[in-house]
Amino acid sequence: MSSTIVDQIKKQFSLRYGSESLLVRSPGRINLIGEHTDYNQGFVLPAAIDKAIYLGFAENGTTSCRVFSLDYLEEGSFLLEDVQPGGGWLTFIKGVVAQLMHDGHSLHGFDCVFGGDIPIGAGLSSSAALENGVGMGLNALFDLGLQRLDLVAISQRAEHEFAGVKCGIMDMFASMMGKRDFAIRLDCRSMAFDYFPVNLQEYQFLLCDTQVSHKLADSAYNTRREECQTGVAIIQRVFPETKSLRDVTMDQLEKIKEQFPGDVYKRCAYVVQENQRLIASCDLLQTSDLPGFGKLLYGSHVGLSRSYEVSCPELDFLVAQTIPMEYVLGARMMGGGFGGCTLNLVKISEKEAFIAEITAAYQLQFGILPKVYEVQIVDGTSLLN
Ligand code: GLA
Repeated sequence: MSSTIVDQIKKQFSLRYGSESLLVRSPGRINLIGEHTDYNQGFVLPAAIDKAIYLGFAENGTTSCRVFSLDYLEEGSFLLEDVQPGGGWLTFIKGVVAQLMHDGHSLHGFDCVFGGDIPIGAGLSSSAALENGVGMGLNALFDLGLQRLDLVAISQRAEHEFAGVKCGIMDMFASMMGKRDFAIRLDCRSMAFDYFPVNLQEYQFLLCDTQVSHKLADSAYNTRREECQTGVAIIQRVFPETKSLRDVTMDQLEKIKEQFPGDVYKRCAYVVQENQRLIASCDLLQTSDLPGFGKLLYGSHVGLSRSYEVSCPELDFLVAQTIPMEYVLGARMMGGGFGGCTLNLVKISEKEAFIAEITAAYQLQFGILPKVYEVQIVDGTSLLN
């Protein structure tokens, strides 16, 4: 698949822009556990996957940037002297360009063709992959001397400023820093990380794509972030040493429970417990206790659905379907929520049965054919030539 996409990119590039291009691969990501913890300075456990965006770049000697999307079969363009947010998919590219220039890097006009096989809107971070790919490509093309972590920060700012989502660091970090066969255990406060071996024995992760992505997602995401900040401000009045929900215990929350307005208590409790689940998960994975880890996946889903309220009927249905399946150890929604994929820990030998059962049930309930993806854990964003 990927070599076909690269071939198509090369072909389109020479057809449209008539020159050799510098090639980049930038992967999507999964997250094993630790959802909505990144912007609360907590822990996450993501990994880069073998679904990626591929990009070709070349300088064009002007101040104009022309970008062709293979997936949408459309070209967008903008001038370096006037880079504004907007323009659908083009905003992610403009966002990275704007952040590079904001940091004082001098860019020149370029042409780009990109395409890939990360399903869009499926919660596999196609936008972070695109931003990282653009950052890595322009860094090489214009010899900017940026390191991977600089590029991660640029991608995040592009998402904040141009895509309008106040996302955490997880997606771009996982896509950029991924390592084959390892998850990344990242402390989103210190940015310390280590590569965590994922040994699933006779099990594997399968993703079930609801094929829905509810409109609410972006606004609800930003609201959750604000609710967590409100929570921290209230906790700080009693426990002034608190810097983020990362520092908070359930005992502390209980003591001041009645001080939280609206849903803020529930939101905070979810984040505190999800961090605990991540730490416990790492211990269980280290001792190869997969049934124990699977239970925490279900626990994470219940928290995301009932306390953090970022799930939707389609995700809840897919997770609920797996509970009676004795060959599934755990399942949960993954990523921001309101659509996208569930992550399922499934016995390899029962893969076909799982796909048949879950597909039939989902189709009967919603009239939509879900997709099921098998994913391998791969290296992060890289230059191909
Ligand atoms: C989205 C965001 C991430 C993270 C997840 C939830 O994917 O981009 O930063 O917050 O949601 O864990």
